[in-house]
Amino acid sequence: MVVGGLRRLEYRGYDSAGIALPSGGDLLIERRAGALANLEARLDEVGRERFTGTSGIGHTRWATHGPPTDRNAHPHRSSDGKVAVVHNGIIENFMELRAELEARGIWAESDTDTETTAHLVALAHAGELAGAEDAKGDLPAAVRAVVRRLEGAFTLVVTHADEPDRIVAARRNSPLVLGLGEGETFLASDVAAFIEFTRHAVELGQDQIVTITRSGYEVTDFAGEPVVATPFEVTWDLAAAEKGGHDYFMLKEIEEQPTAIAHTLRGHLVDGRIVLDEQRLSDQDLRDIDKVFVVACGTAYHSGLLAKYAIEHWTRLPVEIEFASEFRYRDPVLDRSTLVVAISQSGETADTLEALRHAKDQKARVLAICNTNGAQIPRESDAVIYTHAGPEIGVAATKTFTAQIAANYLVGLALAQARGTKYPDEVVREFEQLEATPAAVAEVLESLGEARALGQELAPSKAVLFLGRHVGYPVALEGALKLKELAYMHAEAFAAGELKHGPIALIEEGLPVVVVMPSPKGRAVLHSKLLSNIQEIKARGARTVVIAETGDETVRPFADHLFELPAVPTLLQPLVATIPLQVIAAEIALARGYDVDKPRNLAKSVTVE
Ligand code: M6R
Repeated sequence: MVVGGLRRLEYRGYDSAGIALPSGGDLLIERRAGALANLEARLDEVGRERFTGTSGIGHTRWATHGPPTDRNAHPHRSSDGKVAVVHNGIIENFMELRAELEARGIWAESDTDTETTAHLVALAHAGELAGAEDAKGDLPAAVRAVVRRLEGAFTLVVTHADEPDRIVAARRNSPLVLGLGEGETFLASDVAAFIEFTRHAVELGQDQIVTITRSGYEVTDFAGEPVVATPFEVTWDLAAAEKGGHDYFMLKEIEEQPTAIAHTLRGHLVDGRIVLDEQRLSDQDLRDIDKVFVVACGTAYHSGLLAKYAIEHWTRLPVEIEFASEFRYRDPVLDRSTLVVAISQSGETADTLEALRHAKDQKARVLAICNTNGAQIPRESDAVIYTHAGPEIGVAATKTFTAQIAANYLVGLALAQARGTKYPDEVVREFEQLEATPAAVAEVLESLGEARALGQELAPSKAVLFLGRHVGYPVALEGALKLKELAYMHAEAFAAGELKHGPIALIEEGLPVVVVMPSPKGRAVLHSKLLSNIQEIKARGARTVVIAETGDETVRPFADHLFELPAVPTLLQPLVATIPLQVIAAEIALARGYDVDKPRNLAKSVTVE
């Protein structure tokens, strides 16, 4: 059961894996560097039947402290062999704690920050931790005493050899969710781990400790005061977390985009008005906004660039977009009339969470766009729109990108509606156009044969450049990111107007350049400028891959490969134009023999800064 849960969570980290089970007053522990398959092979070697018990813990790792070796794999054990701990996050004061342990003659076996917590819990449980003598024999009290001494981000799950009937966990910043089965209780970073057994889940908040037994759970804060936790039902089922006949989750998730967009829009137009999922802001609050900041990372940042185009266009509010990791370090000008839109698929990204907290400290209002019910980012926000894309297991974001674009546009329309910068019938019309895009995306998905073939052809290339203007620029950025993370290929995107200011020097004979063309029916000047750019690179030997609207014959003479997209309004073009780029990147990666679900060095949720 533990290994099965890890299999469903492997996308969160896959440097090493391990399990620990209390058994007969002892702890059975196995850990292996590399993919989960290595641990499974080891379990087969020693005999899986040995690993039976009533409770167990497991972990897949994304290394922060210490290389991904057997020795550094979790669970980590206390020197008396009684306590095992798995941990997500970073314990920032671990050097200090380690020195304190060494002074007591307890030496670390690994290079990790995690191991210190196992020793400390064991000392507290033995009544030998200064100031925590009353925790003797009381595992929850021992964990409470230890977490109060930790700095940084941590979710810790602790088991004790003498306490096979309970597991204790603590949560600060890294995610942790509880699952309630019949006669069994689960803890995991994500509901996917236990969805096979139950859809009844409970959110755990910041700085909470939970003790689980087979029949239930008890939650307290770090001081031991009882806390009422909020139960929720998971809205998707096991099938959503499986490959459903596809070789890779990512390929399935690319195909799910029409549904992801449609579900994200569903229920947001009620009696002709846009409504959010959770709104703790009044229309007056939205009218008082005089500036918007969008903060996000990676793919979510690219979707945020599109939020800027839409919100500025529909509301005339100035919008700044910034990497969440940069935002709080440069003292941005924020006050109670600033709206900060925090976009995050996971709702756990440490950079985005900290940016949000910084904004709140400065009294700004925060609106979250998130794909994970009850995650920390929506919990701490004043308003929320969920992207109902379902679980995204592939590490590279695909369906959540297009769902985020749809959600961003809902934010723009909600602001336009509250501020009266669009008439109600215009808001409804924009919404209806959005609602029509899943059909256009489905049309693109049906004609991807050439994109697949091109992916195979481009696999030996050393680098690929991407060009776009206006809303085509974020699409180009996203295309380049997909290629970097999946195919480990040098890929760079430029705003096409920047070409002559330097990047054109990169163009050489045969270099593939992907160009995202705007619609010829949109702003003529944009189209003609990009058409000139294609000619400029073509003249210098580039191999041009052009993504353009069906019927745009002007590009044909300059396109070595042409992908035709259904006609949609300008702001919606990214929803269709991104699809071939996702597929090309996946095909190149597959042709190069890479696992597109688990690209090297990456983890799905980046819960450390
Ligand atoms: O969960 P988040 O949306 O906050 O994650 C943000 C980025 O880490 C994420 O989009 C990342 O860039 C993906 N690997 C992109 O495919």
